[in-house]
Amino acid sequence: MALLEYENLSITLPGMARPVLDGIDLTVSAGEVVAMVGESGSGKSVTARSALGLFPTGADIEGHVRVDGTEVVGVDPAGLRAIRTGTASMIFQDPRAGINPVRRIGDFLTESLRVSSGLAKGPANARAAELLGAVGLPDPVRHLRQYPHELSGGMLQRVMIAGALTGGPRLLLCDEPTTALDVSTQAEIMAILGRLQRERGLGMLLITHDIELAAAACDRIYVMYAGRIVETAPTAQLFAMPRHPYTAGLLGSSPPLHAPDGPSARLTPIPGSPMGLLESAPGCSFAARCRFARPGVCEQSPPPLERYGGALVACHLAGESLTSMDNPSTREGS
Ligand SMILES: Nc1ncnc2c1ncn2[C@@H]1O[C@H](COP(=O)(O)OP(=O)(O)OP(=O)(O)O)[C@@H](O)[C@H]1O
Ligand SMILES: [Mg+2]
Repeated sequence: MALLEYENLSITLPGMARPVLDGIDLTVSAGEVVAMVGESGSGKSVTARSALGLFPTGADIEGHVRVDGTEVVGVDPAGLRAIRTGTASMIFQDPRAGINPVRRIGDFLTESLRVSSGLAKGPANARAAELLGAVGLPDPVRHLRQYPHELSGGMLQRVMIAGALTGGPRLLLCDEPTTALDVSTQAEIMAILGRLQRERGLGMLLITHDIELAAAACDRIYVMYAGRIVETAPTAQLFAMPRHPYTAGLLGSSPPLHAPDGPSARLTPIPGSPMGLLESAPGCSFAARCRFARPGVCEQSPPPLERYGGALVACHLAGESLTSMDNPSTREGS
């Protein structure tokens, strides 16, 4: 059984031209690290938040989200509390937005520990210090007495990770956990998350708009576009042979970590802008920006997700060889 499973999840907001999420199927197994990538507004955060029952107010929800077998859609408050305090927890982009600025770090951590594990004050303090040590903070006992403004952004994100571990979760949802941090701190935070994931056998859903970061950390990648999954494949396969033109576009528009020809390799931006919620298209939602789009085919009907080897791809032309979509490092000048 998957630890996290989305089955045909659709979320629609009243008055919008297209759903926020449209038939999402996604799984994360125990111990597996899975990434979801896509441009701003594609629905990544709404997907992650759904796992904790945080649906947009007034939304119409169809389909299923299961966390360790428990259905989240329509779950009662007790069931939701059990998921949030035990099985799953979430780390957000901006650590300062998730912590009360006038309370000490120790209160933040021990409060969650006392709620989730029922610990008394003394043992909760000891456990909080232990968790701060586990996320690599140098002086846990002192940090417990500090206020959020006394810590740097990177230190505070470590506190948030410690906070996410208080209930002993098996699933960690990470929504752009490093976007607000500078590059070297990003690398430290990713290293800590990777170590904790391996040590604790956590299932992890890593949300990012950075496909290179996803590749470095994840076993499988889901690519989102306008509320739909347009491609998913094991990481190496996705990089070697992106089948959806949008995936190829993402690869071609982000600087490769280990470019054979160095930082001078040319980046190719994807033309146009992502589709907002007030726009819709009867066919493939990427067609308007796709240089391979075929008149009379791509605008007619939405392409279903179909299997091609180890990948699932939603593109009418995925079965054809679009030769210039090979590895982006070979595409320069195409
Ligand atoms: N609570 C909400 N109420 C109304 N609309 C929402 C709500 N949450 C998200 N949306 C809309 O749903 C769409 C998807 O939003 P989401 O936050 O999931 O995007 P994202 O892929 O995480 O983008 P980013 O990379 O900018 O974080 C957006 O158009 C957003 O405006
Ligand atoms: Mg987001």
